[in-house]
Amino acid sequence: MIRELVHAFYAEVRRDPMLGPIFEARIDNWPEHLDKLSAFWSSVVLMTGRYKGRPMPVHMAIAEISRTHFERWLALFRTTANAVCPGPPAALFIDRAERIAESLHLGISIQRGECPPGAAVKFAEA
Ligand code: HEM
Repeated sequence: MIRELVHAFYAEVRRDPMLGPIFEARIDNWPEHLDKLSAFWSSVVLMTGRYKGRPMPVHMAIAEISRTHFERWLALFRTTANAVCPGPPAALFIDRAERIAESLHLGISIQRGECPPGAAVKFAEA
């Protein structure tokens, strides 16, 4: 299920006019990226420890990332998760994605000196 979700999600990301170019400019080995992201999600939702990387510096290095990109990323992720694994599994993936997006966005904002105390963005839908 994790693989199916990761593959379906990045197929959408690659087609997306806002997000696609950011990924295409940086990823030249898609099978490797999809394996890494499958390991990441396996670690996040099943606590398998398969992913050993550090996503924060990777995203801090993407100069063009903004809040709009995170909102778009999450919109695509919600739609894909609800299509691939509707119900409680989708809700779990979406909850984790929203929290991780918040944390990445906060880290990037602080690094850029854009984040006064208490100004963190919440991405969870009301
Ligand atoms: C604004 C939204 C986002 C954009 C544009 C974005 C873009 C990217 C790009 C381009 C890479 C590949 C970097 C490289 O290999 O040079 C990457 C890696 C990654 N992304 Fe994102 N990302 C976004 C949000 C997220 C979110 C919300 C998560 C988690 C829920 C996430 C998890 C990861 C992980 C785990 C990696 C692999 C890091 C590593 O190399 O160990 N990303 N992202």
